[in-house]
Amino acid sequence: MPQLSDATRGRVLLGGDYNPEQWPEETWYDDVRLMKDAGVNSVTVGVFSWARLEPRPGVHDFGWLDRLLDLVHGHGIGVVLATPTAAPPPWLGRLHPDTLPVDEDGRTEWWGGRQHFSHSSATYRRHAAAITEALAARYGGHPALTMWHINNEYCTYDHGDEAAARFRGWLRDRYGTLDALNTAWGTAFWSQGYGDWEEILPSRRAHYLKNPTQVLDFRRFTSDMLLECYTAERDIVRRHTPHIPVTTNFMPLWFGQDAWRWAGEEDVVSVDLYPDPRDPYGAQEGALVQDLTRSQARGPWMLMEQATGAVGWRDVDQPKPRGLNRLWSLQAVARGADAVCYFQWRRSRQGAEKFHSAMLGHAGEHGRVFQEVKRLGADLATLGPRVSGTRIEADVAVLHDWHSWWAGTQEARPFAHADLPVVLRAWHRALWEAHLTTDFAHPTHDLSRYRLVAVPQLYLLTDAAVDNLLAYVHGGGTLVCGFLTGIADEDDRVRPGGMDARLRGLFGIRTLHEWWPLPAGGTVPCDGFRGTLWSEELEADGTADETVPYRGGELDGLPAVLGKGRAWYLSTLPEPEALRTLLTRIAEGAGVRPVLDGLPDGVEAVRRGDALFLLNHGRDEVTVDVPGTHRDLLTGEVADGSVVLGRYGVAVLSS
Ligand code: GAL
Repeated sequence: MPQLSDATRGRVLLGGDYNPEQWPEETWYDDVRLMKDAGVNSVTVGVFSWARLEPRPGVHDFGWLDRLLDLVHGHGIGVVLATPTAAPPPWLGRLHPDTLPVDEDGRTEWWGGRQHFSHSSATYRRHAAAITEALAARYGGHPALTMWHINNEYCTYDHGDEAAARFRGWLRDRYGTLDALNTAWGTAFWSQGYGDWEEILPSRRAHYLKNPTQVLDFRRFTSDMLLECYTAERDIVRRHTPHIPVTTNFMPLWFGQDAWRWAGEEDVVSVDLYPDPRDPYGAQEGALVQDLTRSQARGPWMLMEQATGAVGWRDVDQPKPRGLNRLWSLQAVARGADAVCYFQWRRSRQGAEKFHSAMLGHAGEHGRVFQEVKRLGADLATLGPRVSGTRIEADVAVLHDWHSWWAGTQEARPFAHADLPVVLRAWHRALWEAHLTTDFAHPTHDLSRYRLVAVPQLYLLTDAAVDNLLAYVHGGGTLVCGFLTGIADEDDRVRPGGMDARLRGLFGIRTLHEWWPLPAGGTVPCDGFRGTLWSEELEADGTADETVPYRGGELDGLPAVLGKGRAWYLSTLPEPEALRTLLTRIAEGAGVRPVLDGLPDGVEAVRRGDALFLLNHGRDEVTVDVPGTHRDLLTGEVADGSVVLGRYGVAVLSS
């Protein structure tokens, strides 16, 4: 199978979405000159070019793309060629209204924006396949081509009639019989029993609470339909160019796709990442998405899009202050990226994203942003040969599963404040701040290479996942689980006793009497810290080695935290510092060490291959003690025992 290294060829790619059709051809010459100046070696072309490539049904205009590919190739720049199927041309919707998606209220989403396609529409799929075929046939042999980029950020829903028909087919494959479906969905509740497949609908507007398993299955179905669209196009380009890697870009921690499953269908896993520069936890948000993407890729990955500054869709939309773009870009490289790319190369003057920043801003080549991109280009050219293709070893895995997220995020639940992303971020932040390098994994993955497995929240656990967790602990691993884990089975049916019995036994819980969710901003006192979001009325079975009790209030004296051998359970979310302290202690007990001891606040350390990345997320100069003598790969300077990092400074030390 082709892979990212076939495109990087020992470099770290720098580039971005390039939309030359928005500009007169004279501008293209300026573009390639400035790309060379900045060290750009990759451009992603054609993402939204369908109307330009096929202005009328079956009539193609490839001349401009021929010239463009030849031009960039002549300047030594590779092309990630996109299929344009995320933005069908207006003629498709007008001639074939069945290609348009329908929302849960039955309203059509019209052309005039983007992503106005129904994943279930046979007509859409046929036209998408045809333009993909034409592109692959024409450009499969072009020497500029380094990678295929299918569609863009698959994220649509469809509740229309064609989707309904496909949903029924999907359900037949899953359940076989209506009886099995009725059992899985618990349709005895509220007179929902189905007597004919034709009665089953997508999850459309209902008067009151919808059947949660129907909603869960509709989410599964939607992810699968989008995946079918992706694999159909992927298979076309693969047939023409089996040696060229294929990707599609994920959105970060995006609800709508089972990204584990999707990643298995990609040669290159890529992601778009837009932390808010004003967010004090922006760097951690980046680290989380980078760790997740690297884990999905099982190695180097591609940062397909990021912004040099403002994005145009935030209420207060500030640019990145000087140095932050470089810092966050090198953070991605530290965490395994072999490509650092942007939306987009040249800032548009028209269209919905004309206020979105770009590598080349409205201020032009003398603008601060472009000058900073040039500096980044120089850094990546220096680092590329040393880090490209190298890997990151983590002793800790955080478990995440989309099906559990989908099942847990429903109406009529007592835990609206305890949403999975909130809890997941809190746990990852604690590990990140403790400098414990962290992978992500699916609950059924082989976990045996990790010393510590952390489960912030897995509301739904299949039997196979429970088996896997138990086998992991019995095999010598250390497991720490948060509340709302192991509550439901595959069909979102609550497990007997309210929580999986084997997990209860593992943690030393006899009975989970009641959940006591906290109001927004509320806390609960525990011995030595305060819990947030959630608390539980637990009865221990007396087998735990360590118990941290609640203190005061209704739960006084009951266990908040239980530790039994190598298995730990947290029935609340300790405040950030307490969570960090607790997870660090558990990690230490499992033999996990931080990347470096004694790091100053705000400094992140990551080892990638034989390079040690030190990243200062603060604006003040800091001195980092690093035992031994090292060379900074970026500056060539020798660091003897310590290294000084300025505002947003980065050092990459070789050992
Ligand atoms: C991404 C998308 C790009 C661009 C970017 C900036 O979601 O893939 O095409 O829209 O956001 O907003």
